[in-house]
Amino acid sequence: MAELDTTRLDTERIPRHVGVIMDGNGRWANQRGLERTAGHAAGEAALYDTALGALDIGLEWLTVFTFSTENWSRSAEEVQFLMLFNEDLLGRRRDDLHERGVRMHFAGDLDDPRIPQSNKDNMREAMELTASNEKLNLVFGFNYGGRSELVRAAAAIARRSVAGELNPDDVDADVFASHLAVPDMPDADLIIRTSGEQRISNFLLWQSAYAEYVFPEILWPDFRRQDLVDCIVEYQARRRRFGRA
Ligand code: FPP
Repeated sequence: MAELDTTRLDTERIPRHVGVIMDGNGRWANQRGLERTAGHAAGEAALYDTALGALDIGLEWLTVFTFSTENWSRSAEEVQFLMLFNEDLLGRRRDDLHERGVRMHFAGDLDDPRIPQSNKDNMREAMELTASNEKLNLVFGFNYGGRSELVRAAAAIARRSVAGELNPDDVDADVFASHLAVPDMPDADLIIRTSGEQRISNFLLWQSAYAEYVFPEILWPDFRRQDLVDCIVEYQARRRRFGRA
């Protein structure tokens, strides 16, 4: 592993929350004459290395899009692969990430009956096991969609209002955010989408209100921790205005 070059990184201004749309697995596999699923399998090393890089530089929150609410429309084989792969990946990486102080979260509709029960059990166990870790919050957007997250928050607020637990007049942005999938998740500062595609694709719609976007021309399986650092360097060169002049 090459030494991580952080000479251009301003370590005093590390973003708090980075989101990643890990795009390009299918194209990476196609270029090699492999099945698309081989691209997802190769994406695991990229994900693990990026998480270690996040730990190295002291990032607090890393959210990765592993399975979207729209991915159910892919072929049955690909969907089945990703369902099982999520479980396998936890089996391979959970204890190592736990020992490194990573807290794992799964944002998304985990009650969906299409998700195998064993996968749900594994995700809940990983969340419980790592609940008191404080180094890095690693959020898997699994069966995640930004619109679905917003609709579920609105429905939860409506239910609590009807039950008399919440006065609708008290609902402001903070109260709303506390009903999202991971209530203590801060806004995303930087969102990276690999592969050169430039779309939001229903990712972190609420949390990305003032996020900066970086679109490296790297297919996800080729992404490594140095690329994370390089994206953050690019982010640090931007002037964030938050709506101000
Ligand atoms: C997008 O690339 C990638 C995905 C839909 C899945 C991302 C999954 C991983 C990186 C592996 C970890 C997965 C789990 C479930 C833990 P694409 O397939 O859309 O690529 P393409 O645009 O080149 O076709």
